[in-house]
Amino acid sequence: MELREIFKINLADEDLWDDINGEVLLNLKGFLAQQQLYSAAIKEIRTKLEILDEEFQVHYDHNPIHNIEFRLKSPDSIIKKLKRKNLEISLDSIWNNIYDIAGVRVICNYIQDIYYIADLLTKQDDIKLLRVRDYIKNPKENGYRSLHLIVQVPVFLAKETKLVPVEVQIRTIAMDFWASLEHKLRYKAKENVPENLKKRLIDCAEQIAKLDSEMQAIYIESKKLNNVKKGK
Ligand code: GTP
Ligand code: MG
Repeated sequence: MELREIFKINLADEDLWDDINGEVLLNLKGFLAQQQLYSAAIKEIRTKLEILDEEFQVHYDHNPIHNIEFRLKSPDSIIKKLKRKNLEISLDSIWNNIYDIAGVRVICNYIQDIYYIADLLTKQDDIKLLRVRDYIKNPKENGYRSLHLIVQVPVFLAKETKLVPVEVQIRTIAMDFWASLEHKLRYKAKENVPENLKKRLIDCAEQIAKLDSEMQAIYIESKKLNNVKKGK
């Protein structure tokens, strides 16, 4: 397979291709090894989350996680990010500066589930919490809401153990619905989203926040009803 194909390089972007050619492809093997490390870290986090979700199902008859998505940042996005931040384009530079190569997105049913999952994950002995950004308590100006964690997880290799950073975004179904539309719009409008659409999105984000908190409240009430029925 052509290297450009392996790296999903946009052929129109010749400048990018030159950088990659000159600086990263020289170390193709190292790059692939690094990718494997991040991919292993995603698997570790994913398994941890699935175990927590199953445990909740067994003990509390409730699945906090609706679904989990994951992705490895593509090589061209990695290079774009290094360039944007004026960082050197090298494997060491990726390792030391970019914490969202491995990305896991956890979509929860209710707001409380987000914090349960974050708490249970970060309490685990082998997980180190590097950074928290709570865009639910402090939404972004555009209305974006989600809980972002950067965690470090050990990956056990044949000869050594590597501590690998993973970005975990945790949000409700409704927040995810909003973020997908906002992302699509920003992409289509090439960052120049018309003011009236911006305003409508902020409005939607506020309605979604109300909806999430009302759904949570009704869910809690419904559990009480269930307990009364069971005579608890
Ligand atoms: P990046 O350099 O873009 O990774 O941002 P950062 O390191 O400052 O991290 P931040 O926690 O702000 O955002 C990381 C990721 O969250 C992004 O790559 C998106 O996936 C998501 N995100 C952050 N802000 C928004 C937003 O306003 N809209 C949408 N749709 N997604 C967002
Ligand atoms: Mg990012």
